[in-house]
Amino acid sequence: MPTPHISAEPGDFAAAVLMPGDPKRAQRIAEQLFEEPRLVTDVRGMLGFTGEVGGRPLSVMGSGMGQPSATIYSTELYRFYGVQRIIRVGTCGGMSGSVHVGDTVVALGAHTDSSMNQQRIPGINFSAVASFSLASAAVAAAHGSDSVHVGTIISRDHFYSVPEGQPRKLADYGVLGVDMETAALYGVAAEFGREALTVLTVSDHLFDHSVEMSSQERETTFQTSLTLAVAAALS
Ligand code: HPA
Repeated sequence: MPTPHISAEPGDFAAAVLMPGDPKRAQRIAEQLFEEPRLVTDVRGMLGFTGEVGGRPLSVMGSGMGQPSATIYSTELYRFYGVQRIIRVGTCGGMSGSVHVGDTVVALGAHTDSSMNQQRIPGINFSAVASFSLASAAVAAAHGSDSVHVGTIISRDHFYSVPEGQPRKLADYGVLGVDMETAALYGVAAEFGREALTVLTVSDHLFDHSVEMSSQERETTFQTSLTLAVAAALS
């Protein structure tokens, strides 16, 4: 039965779902990975597709931007469609000096300034962590590449309003980059006892504005993240 935000029928989604923020990217990923992508939902333009990679079922669906949107879609996928693992493939702003534009970040854990996970268990500062087995599979697929980094990120609520000095402090604590969805996704996965992982391409750097990627470079570097995400999804 369709949910409030997903029009697919039970069984339409594979057990593993790749989840970019942008629904149009979900479509491009589906067209790239699947010989015959099947559109399974398009409520509010949040496109979801199912197909096969090497004979293995896989789905891809957009999450929209921000933790509330990612929470709605991941909750409905886990709760109503029996999805076992969600792998977010997105972009982040680089923070640590060790990451560069075009690099890939595998998010082991996500700090957050959002209250969404605080509301889960009153009094508890929830630890938003990735599935160890999915993270291991993604890291193994990177074959020790210098441009793939593994560590923490920050999932912020505001894109534009950033407290003075906060990003620098986070970078001092080794935080690799900033996105707007992962902490919530990891919280939802914990709620349902399922798996989640985020693999991000560094699209810009908060402290280094010297590198601008062409759209071609953006697409090429995104392929690395996608390769790691697919490896995790099918592991
Ligand atoms: N902030 C939040 N999310 C992002 C950013 C950023 O600077 N860059 C890419 N995703």
